[in-house]
Amino acid sequence: MSSDFTIRVATPNDELAVSALLEASYSVLMGSGYDPATLSAVLPVITRANPKLLLSGTYYVAEATSLRIVGCGGWTHEQPGNGDIKPELGHIRHFATHPDWIGQTIGRSIYAVCEQAARSAGMSYFECYSSLNAEGFYAALGFETIRRIEVRMGNNEMLPSILMRRSI
Ligand SMILES: CC(C)(COP(=O)(O)OP(=O)(O)OC[C@H]1O[C@@H](n2cnc3c(N)ncnc32)[C@H](O)[C@@H]1OP(=O)(O)O)[C@@H](O)C(=O)NCCC(=O)NCCS
Repeated sequence: MSSDFTIRVATPNDELAVSALLEASYSVLMGSGYDPATLSAVLPVITRANPKLLLSGTYYVAEATSLRIVGCGGWTHEQPGNGDIKPELGHIRHFATHPDWIGQTIGRSIYAVCEQAARSAGMSYFECYSSLNAEGFYAALGFETIRRIEVRMGNNEMLPSILMRRSI
């Protein structure tokens, strides 16, 4: 089924709506990958919309016809965490779909926009730090699992994750 939504570039005006979406999505859907203690330690950090991403021009939202934001995701040339830049390597950032809207191609559609924009910007491969619950999603998009990693969150909590990669 294809639902009625459109994708546009996010702006700083979307900050509250994106934070609300991250909260709704991560608090429910990440529960299949993490125990409650791990999740509650990182949720306060990972459910805050990232102002730099909202300004980047390469972060997107999916809007339902009601104008409610029901999906988000994007990419950056900068590596999350340290801002390092490697030639031709883009990084997938903060994908989320509202639990009421999963399985309706929102994630795949946002990814397609990212891939096209990244190729135009000269990227030839993508990496992502996938949450444990999202490995199947990125695998469906053509990413290969490289290895398990621990990602340091803004509050110094470590989140078990999966480094994944694909050429674009
Ligand atoms: C991961 C997530 C963004 C997927 O969003 P979605 O809008 O439901 O994805 P889509 O409907 O576009 O699915 C695309 C493909 O991925 C597959 N897929 C989606 N979620 C999956 C999952 N959890 N496990 C396995 N496959 C999955 C779908 O079956 C579909 O495959 P197909 O196109 O071959 O039929 C969503 O589940 C989510 O927000 N999860 C919580 C947040 C999160 O962990 N984000 C990743 C942070 S790194």
